[in-house]
Amino acid sequence: MQYATITGWGKCVPPAILTNHDLETFIETSDEWIKPRTGISQRHISHVNTSELASVAAKHALAAAGIEANELDMIILATATADTLIPNIASTVQANIGAHCPAFDINAACSGFLYALGLADSQIKSGQSKKILVVGAERLSFFIDWSKRDTAVLFGDGAGAVIVEATDTPGGVLGYELNNDPTGRDILKSTFGTGMNKFDPDSLNFFIEFNGQEIFKRAVAGMGKLSTKVLEKCNMSKDDIDWVIPHQANERIIDTLIHRMKIPKEKAIVNIANYGNTSAATIPITICDALEQGKIKPNQIILSCAFGAGLTSAAALIQW
Ligand code: ACO
Repeated sequence: MQYATITGWGKCVPPAILTNHDLETFIETSDEWIKPRTGISQRHISHVNTSELASVAAKHALAAAGIEANELDMIILATATADTLIPNIASTVQANIGAHCPAFDINAACSGFLYALGLADSQIKSGQSKKILVVGAERLSFFIDWSKRDTAVLFGDGAGAVIVEATDTPGGVLGYELNNDPTGRDILKSTFGTGMNKFDPDSLNFFIEFNGQEIFKRAVAGMGKLSTKVLEKCNMSKDDIDWVIPHQANERIIDTLIHRMKIPKEKAIVNIANYGNTSAATIPITICDALEQGKIKPNQIILSCAFGAGLTSAAALIQW
């Protein structure tokens, strides 16, 4: 039996910081509005492409795992903000780190990292791969209309990466659940793509738009449902969980989820104050922060869950 274990991790957040007070200088908003409604104090803004953030995070993850890029069997990169449609940006990361393996992007929006981790787990357990680089990376600031206060305050840029390796030691990814609810496709979107009329300048809109209150409700329900499902699948209960690493879209979403699941608040790892919502990157960045802070210890059980455009949802149980 092969197990899929996370053996390395790394993150890249760009140095430029945009605080809530900075936002007050150019749109009608305030720290007093943003902080209590979302938990966000600041976000990082990138002047380089998503693939560059991803490449730096990937190099850190390789170094932490103590492996060379040419040992990788696969690269799966989760992003909704690729710098190019063709080629996929996993191939750009591959070129930057010097790997020789299959490489592809997936777009499951904010659930993308857990979708990618699930694919990596299955790939390893089927015996097809031994060492996989999984990255979540976004440059959401590029897709924000900075004159619109509803979206401008929520998002940030960054990347996180993990190495998933086949091992004989029980643990690692214990199980995962993925879902998509297409009835909510229109409540969170950026319509950039071949569906646009490229001859009509008014249709050339690739900015992110959403219905925040509808997403809020569906995010709590979707993450709760898949978290329960993955616990049942792994014959575990909420009392077995040492840490919850949720997607960081809004601290109030996390609080509501944790409350409904009857899990103590101290078990939720929340860092949205520093980064805002970095979509597919929130979970691997949070894993890195939690490890840097010495929170996660060997053999502890982590429940991770996410929700995003699609409407995708995902949950995974990981034994560290
Ligand atoms: N600053 C000041 N006022 C604002 C701002 C802002 N940045 N944004 C909106 N407002 C105003 C609105 O115009 C509205 O004013 P009105 O009552 O005069 O019309 C008022 O504040 C209330 O707006 P609501 O939309 O009702 O605010 P709400 O409490 O729902 O909070 C929020 C909005 C934070 C977006 C919340 O709905 C939310 O977190 N939703 C889920 C997260 C989300 O949508 N994330 C997008 C990505 S999805 C994902 O990652 C899963």
